[in-house]
Amino acid sequence: MFRRSSSIEIKSRAQLDTMREAGLVVARALDAISRAAAPGVTTGELDAIARDVLADNGATSSFLGYKAHGAVPYPGVICASVNDEVVHGIPGARALADGDLLSVDFGAIVDGWNGDAAVTVLVGDVAAERVALSEVTEAALWAGLRRARAGGRLTDIGHAVESSVVASSERDGRFYGIVEEYGGHGIGSRMHMEPHILNYGAPGRGPVLRPGMALAIEPMVTLGDPEVAVLDDAWTVVTTDGSAAAHWEHTVAVTEDGPWVLTALDDVRL
Ligand code: MF3
Ligand code: CO
Repeated sequence: MFRRSSSIEIKSRAQLDTMREAGLVVARALDAISRAAAPGVTTGELDAIARDVLADNGATSSFLGYKAHGAVPYPGVICASVNDEVVHGIPGARALADGDLLSVDFGAIVDGWNGDAAVTVLVGDVAAERVALSEVTEAALWAGLRRARAGGRLTDIGHAVESSVVASSERDGRFYGIVEEYGGHGIGSRMHMEPHILNYGAPGRGPVLRPGMALAIEPMVTLGDPEVAVLDDAWTVVTTDGSAAAHWEHTVAVTEDGPWVLTALDDVRL
């Protein structure tokens, strides 16, 4: 049997160290934004915080001007997706309200190397089912991160993400939906690289994971039907049934010593 050799970028130790620098910039910005997010604060103000962190750290934005879906360059440095917005919400004049579930996605470039992560933030007093949704999504992310292990296979990651969400559904006695139209990705000298990483599916398929690979793992989970649509602004992805969504993401490096979470505030090795 012939297998096409993998086209997944392999980073040197020094290149991973630079990706860690980019990842720390991302972690600092998301930390600052998480603290600042409150009722009355606009998503544009959160974008400005991220721009300041980029400038303070000599970094540039992975997102600003990005062209993915046709001809509309992305206008922000963060994505701010509120409630039924799943991902790619454009920051602007919208003021956050008490009870909002806000997902913030941010990418930074240091010396040509990218970091990409997302958090879901609780704004004020948030309904218990929305808090649970965020926790379920974050747990699924960490289940996936733990499978970014040398010698494993790519689809082990999506399988772990899905299994975690299914286990949470059974525990809570309610359905959580996994968005299937979007997923994670390889990352390094560009933000979006091979391979595409599904958040579901059978394990044991796809490329063998090797030291020096870097992956952005990013489950998107909904309280209702996981079907999504893109708004007329060409970016904002929403649930079609209006149910709330959560999004958590980290960039992780595959190393000889196990997964290294490059976008965590602390040095996290799994
Ligand atoms: N982190 C996002 C992702 O991987 C990228 C947002 S799209 C952009 O899907 F245009 F804002 F860059
Ligand atoms: Co990403």
